[in-house]
Amino acid sequence: MSPVVRAEILTPNAASIERAARALRQGQVVGMPTETVYGLAGHAFDPVALTRIFETKERPTFDPLIVHVAPPENGAAATISWLQQLDLVDGTQLTAHARGLAEKLMTHFWPGPLTLVLPKRAGVPDLATSGLGTVAIRMPRHPIAQALIRAAGFPLAAPSANRFGRISPTSAQDVAHELGDRIDLILDGGPCEVGLESTVLALSDVALTQLRPGGIARQELEAAIGAPVELPASASAALAPGIAAPGMIESHYAPAKPLATLPRRIAELTPAEATALGLAPQEAVGLLALSGNADQLARRFSELTGARVGDIKVLSPSGDLGEIARALFASLRSLDSGSATRLFAEPCPVDSGLGHAIADRLKRASAKRMHA
Ligand code: TXA
Ligand code: MG
Repeated sequence: MSPVVRAEILTPNAASIERAARALRQGQVVGMPTETVYGLAGHAFDPVALTRIFETKERPTFDPLIVHVAPPENGAAATISWLQQLDLVDGTQLTAHARGLAEKLMTHFWPGPLTLVLPKRAGVPDLATSGLGTVAIRMPRHPIAQALIRAAGFPLAAPSANRFGRISPTSAQDVAHELGDRIDLILDGGPCEVGLESTVLALSDVALTQLRPGGIARQELEAAIGAPVELPASASAALAPGIAAPGMIESHYAPAKPLATLPRRIAELTPAEATALGLAPQEAVGLLALSGNADQLARRFSELTGARVGDIKVLSPSGDLGEIARALFASLRSLDSGSATRLFAEPCPVDSGLGHAIADRLKRASAKRMHA
């Protein structure tokens, strides 16, 4: 049974943005479009609003939030001292080297899908950072997100606007589906241009560590700064276990239906691998394919497994990674609401560009559930 949707989806204009900003000033939470995924936004310095974010999402408070800022009004570049003036970052805890790297990254990738984890000022509520000494900051590129932050007059904490552990929303309708029974306002900024969450990067004097792969590929970061970016596995010793990369909880982005990643692309699946999937004759399955022709892929899968392909989504006919990322969550969501009893996804190669982030989301979506 669907819960009662009370949220209003607002077309963005000066009046609706001001209405949402007013709600934020009163400590309410609001659905906000960004170029990555929709966020559930609240006043980053107001513990009441932060509590509402966690409660609305049913998110455990050990998983810290990303604080969103708008570009400086005067058109100047974002700097550490500017973030310090906003009362977010404690620049004194950064070495000159780390500060230089952070500013280079901000100049290159802000506004855009890069989140930087930086030493926090004491005034940033512990709720926003789960008690860590650092705060995650991002400057979204979406004009409506920027307009909302400016109208509110303060930075906005915003996790993805989904119930905890579920598929992130990439449209205003998705937000209504996830949280429409518990929030009042959703600004409709259209479908998300990137479709995957931001890349989260931790900065220290000795290393840059990618805590979450996302909308900006590691190779792009490395090219911009001319230094290697480490992966959490190799750097995990430096991070507090369990909390330094809390977004990396195993089961995340999960559909309600069981999803498994295939050992190989459908075109290359061997009969033995197909048999090992253990499908009953005519069992209704849904397929998530990266590229190719939907009819051909569905036919091959049926012939190999004996199952019936009730639904298939081809993320990008030509295999373009940007297009695959953009379509991923919406396609998963659509398969999840269809008639299939089990879902299968093609594996995505991790070695280039957005491939790493796409493979990461697929892996988490098919991981064993933490809870039913
Ligand atoms: O694209 C995005 O980043 C979206 C949109 C709405 O901006 N937001 C988003 O937020 O994905 P969320 O809450 O779903 O993910 C935030 C993740 C945490 O799970 C954690 O991995 C990381 O950011 N994070 C936040 N604060 C951190 C900190 N102080 N240290 C390390 N990681 C942190
Ligand atoms: Mg999320």
